[in-house]
Amino acid sequence: MSVHSSANIKRITTHILQEMKNRGEKISMLTAYDFSMAKIVDDAGIDIILVGDSASNVMAGHETTLPITLDQMIYHASSVVRAVSRAFVVVDIPFGSYQGNSSEALRSAIRIMKESGAHAIKVEGGAEIKESVVRILSAGVPVMGHLGLTPQSIYKFGTYSVRAKESAEAQKLLEDAKLLEECGCFAIVLEKIPASLAKKVAESVSIPVIGIGAGGDVDGQVLVVHDLLGITQEFKPRFLRQYADLQSVMMDAFTNYIKDVKSRDFPNESESY
Ligand code: KIV
Repeated sequence: MSVHSSANIKRITTHILQEMKNRGEKISMLTAYDFSMAKIVDDAGIDIILVGDSASNVMAGHETTLPITLDQMIYHASSVVRAVSRAFVVVDIPFGSYQGNSSEALRSAIRIMKESGAHAIKVEGGAEIKESVVRILSAGVPVMGHLGLTPQSIYKFGTYSVRAKESAEAQKLLEDAKLLEECGCFAIVLEKIPASLAKKVAESVSIPVIGIGAGGDVDGQVLVVHDLLGITQEFKPRFLRQYADLQSVMMDAFTNYIKDVKSRDFPNESESY
């Protein structure tokens, strides 16, 4: 890595993320929802930690991201913020707390920033949420956009398949990305869209574009940490690279513990007072 890389930086900021795009250094982003995981992810040197509303799925066991509440997101975010010393922490504003009402959007964003200590918020959508985005930005809160497969709209889409394959949806996505940039968003996430479209978006806007299932020609990548670690075994989309099989590691540890308790092997003398 060059001497100008982000590796030596004490705290990642929106300014540093922009510089990374400008010089072509890829941005790394992962989700985290609790103190212990966030500490490891931060110590590993990640650039952005997303307290995603995917917490609704991987932490709470809901089928979609819709049920998670603002209070629950703030709880997760404040746990993450307490663990992090280097990464930039972004928090998803949950479904129902920003769409269609810019005053409520501003109130939700301010609650997240004030009560969790996070550094930015993320919203799903383009032109239809412009008023909320502008209002939040006017309070000095950095906003990350999210286009393509936006999971809060899953009941509108009816499927988790690749978005914007047709030219009309692709054109709208490109226009939405430009609009979010014009409004003042500091970055945009693109989820599950054709790599060629993601490349076009990343070339058409000057702010960083982070992809998940959007190919390699964007400015950075994001994954859900439980998927990367192989804790969520049943979720294996094509875009996911699984870096570990923690489900097996954990299963071995738990079954060995149970066996040792049952057989009275644990605790032994050296593990007792
Ligand atoms: O909630 C989340 O984890 C996300 C990522 C998939 C980008 O929005």
